Amino acid sequence: MENIKFKNGKLKIMHITDTHLEDDNIEMSVWLINEACKKEMPDIAIITGDNVHNDDIPEKTKAFIDKLMNVFEEKGIPTAVTFGNHDSERGAMTREELMAYYNTFSCSVSKDYKDLPDCATFNVPVMSEDGTEMKFNLWVIDSNDYDDEGHYGCVLPPQVEWYKNKSDEITKANGGRVYSLAFQHMIVEDVYRALKKCKKRKLYSFPHMYEKKDFYMFDPDFKNFGTLNETPCSGYHNYGQFSAMVEKGDVLGIFSGHDHTNAFAVKLDGIDIGNSLSTRYNDDRFSSQYGYRILEVKESDTSKYTSRVERWYNMFSFKDLNKIKKNGTEFDYKTAKSVTIKGISQRFMTKTGRVFCHLVTGRKNTYNH
Ligand SMILES: [Fe+2]
Repeated sequence: MENIKFKNGKLKIMHITDTHLEDDNIEMSVWLINEACKKEMPDIAIITGDNVHNDDIPEKTKAFIDKLMNVFEEKGIPTAVTFGNHDSERGAMTREELMAYYNTFSCSVSKDYKDLPDCATFNVPVMSEDGTEMKFNLWVIDSNDYDDEGHYGCVLPPQVEWYKNKSDEITKANGGRVYSLAFQHMIVEDVYRALKKCKKRKLYSFPHMYEKKDFYMFDPDFKNFGTLNETPCSGYHNYGQFSAMVEKGDVLGIFSGHDHTNAFAVKLDGIDIGNSLSTRYNDDRFSSQYGYRILEVKESDTSKYTSRVERWYNMFSFKDLNKIKKNGTEFDYKTAKSVTIKGISQRFMTKTGRVFCHLVTGRKNTYNH
């Protein structure tokens, strides 16, 4: 795959995560991802783990990966993949074997550096439109699966060292800092520092992942975006990934998945710590709220970016549905109708919760993106 470049002065990134593809959801999820790609036509898709349920049979896991990756392959969309806690959980395929398989697709821009303990930590340079200089950077980081005590994983010390060295190398080669966005499965543990801690459970506060007696919610003293719907499930340990990124000053935001209903970001020490929705659909009301995130950077000022979250239930207007009914297959119409109709009650519940929280507590659980 040739270098990724800014196009018409812009870079459009699609963040896809937690597709959790398995027999029950693969057809509808992949159809929706395909529709989203046709609509958005991103310059790169970044897939951050818990992608495919690693079945007991490697050939089946590969067939699921084929279905997902063919969406991007057919459209020539460069695709970067990293892993979550579930990708290699059943062990039929190791992370190394999985990455080797993802890399058989010509749209793949993923790398497996053999001197790192994981198989899916790398960076994707983004070149200027004329291809002469590196204008932006994308960090794709494997936050691993579980630690030795069974807690969720995090970015390990050799990976932090790799980031620091690579960041210095890029800065030196380009005669100054190159701004970037980072993507990984597990949210950094530092997120809790940007949330408000309370000792008693309050409406729309969530227990800490490990210190269950502490509850967290949005802190109005920080810059907040989007909706916090559940506990951010970070790794138990913190080996300084976030503080290294603060020190280097080249990362604008770190976006994760893992927490399926969280679509938020908080700004801490100059970096947005964000979470994107699960990008699967299970043919039910609850998952109609899932979707994907689009991030855009302008070549004229790479120190900023914009972000929006797109939910399945907002994807099709009734006019779109009529068009699909006329021109699509029965399955196309069934899927589009399902997310739209089942999404009506989910959308109503989300909005009611938002208003209720504000009226009762005076606090906001949702901010503008
Ligand atoms: Fe996960």
